[in-house]
Amino acid sequence: ASTASAALRGHVVTFRGNPFLMPPNDALVDEPDGLVIITDGRITHAGAYGETIAHLPAGMPVTDYRGCLISAGFVDTHVHYPQLPMIAAYGEQLLEWLERYTFPTERRFADETYATTIARQFLDELVRNGTTTAAVYCTVHPQSVDAFFGESTRLGTLMVAGKVLMDRNAPDYLRDTAQRGYDESRRLIERWHGRNRQHYAVTPRFAPTSTPEQLELAGALLKGDDSLFMQTHLAENRAEVAWVAELFPDSRSYLDVYDRAGLVRPRSVMGHGIYVDEHDLCRCHESGCALAHCPTSNLFLGSGAFRLFDVMDAKRPVRTGLGTDVGAGTSLSHLQSMNEAYKIAQMTGKRLHPVQAFWLATRGGAEALHLDDRIGAIAPGMDADLCILDPRATPLQALRARMCDSTADILFTLMMLGDDRSIRATYVAGRTVHERGVAETAT
Ligand code: GUN
Ligand code: ZN
Repeated sequence: ASTASAALRGHVVTFRGNPFLMPPNDALVDEPDGLVIITDGRITHAGAYGETIAHLPAGMPVTDYRGCLISAGFVDTHVHYPQLPMIAAYGEQLLEWLERYTFPTERRFADETYATTIARQFLDELVRNGTTTAAVYCTVHPQSVDAFFGESTRLGTLMVAGKVLMDRNAPDYLRDTAQRGYDESRRLIERWHGRNRQHYAVTPRFAPTSTPEQLELAGALLKGDDSLFMQTHLAENRAEVAWVAELFPDSRSYLDVYDRAGLVRPRSVMGHGIYVDEHDLCRCHESGCALAHCPTSNLFLGSGAFRLFDVMDAKRPVRTGLGTDVGAGTSLSHLQSMNEAYKIAQMTGKRLHPVQAFWLATRGGAEALHLDDRIGAIAPGMDADLCILDPRATPLQALRARMCDSTADILFTLMMLGDDRSIRATYVAGRTVHERGVAETAT
């Protein structure tokens, strides 16, 4: 995909710090009449329109998004593209949901043509929702990874993804072996990791579906290459946690199962982490591994309430992003993730500030992936992955917007009322990949 140049005028919002560690309004960079100049896919200038306009290259048109917010694109730190066709599957909690709906759906990704079709639709949906980077689970089939990275390369998106490793406690049609999983992952790393904007994540599904040997070999894949990612699930559901304690009686905790295999390190992303203790959180903090908070999924599967404000405790903050976790999650919109995160915080007696929520969806996700030098903020030198948010996307939202007297309140109404209709446009490496109302193709 080619890179591009552009200039965008609108209400620019981004971050100068972590709003869980400083007053939220001090962490926010707020430019009500801002200009962002993009050259060859990178941001070269960003600031007040009146000052920044002097840097506009001769002949470059300015796209007028006044009335809309210009934000860094959303970062989805945990999502399963093969589960798109089974989103909203009725009636079960985690372990039964996997058996009844997930495994049969993932079986179809042995067919690379099918995988390519779903990968394309998934990426279309992501950018329709303003998400420009995601950490993505494929299936156990290596061709599901080729399909995904192939489509992401076409679109030009920065993605993290990998082949699921599963050598026990799964149907035989979805199992690899420790050695085969290792060999296939190795080949995929060589083919895709660091090519264009694609990044590989070693992806053991979760402790119950991998033997200790497979987890060891996952650690061996990572060893000596700090640029590789690792993603898995951690302590999502009470029955799952009890099962892991049975399967790994020698481990101190669920996190410790991964730690012993060398999987707890920078660029490791643990989905959920609801049932973790203080010891685990200290270990996450010191190791640089991250948690992906997946609010719509945790509510949909009845998994439990993520302790966001414990996790972000200033004495040992853990890198944390937001994940949609589709298909257990019920929306690819991070506005909806923020909506449900707010409600989970309310249920636990805490108040999630809109600046904190938007930070989690952008900069926090980028820091969780150790990609904050490239994405997650609007500043010179950053990749031009942006989303344009319309606070007046519906008549009701327009009515509510008239009551807004601060940027924080505009952000709050967007996160509580917004969805894909709120995404006026999405830019990937400076190129428009989505524009609301403009020729959306059905697949
Ligand atoms: N734990 C293991 N596999 C999965 C999955 O596909 N989705 C969720 N939400 N949890 C899991
Ligand atoms: Zn998941």
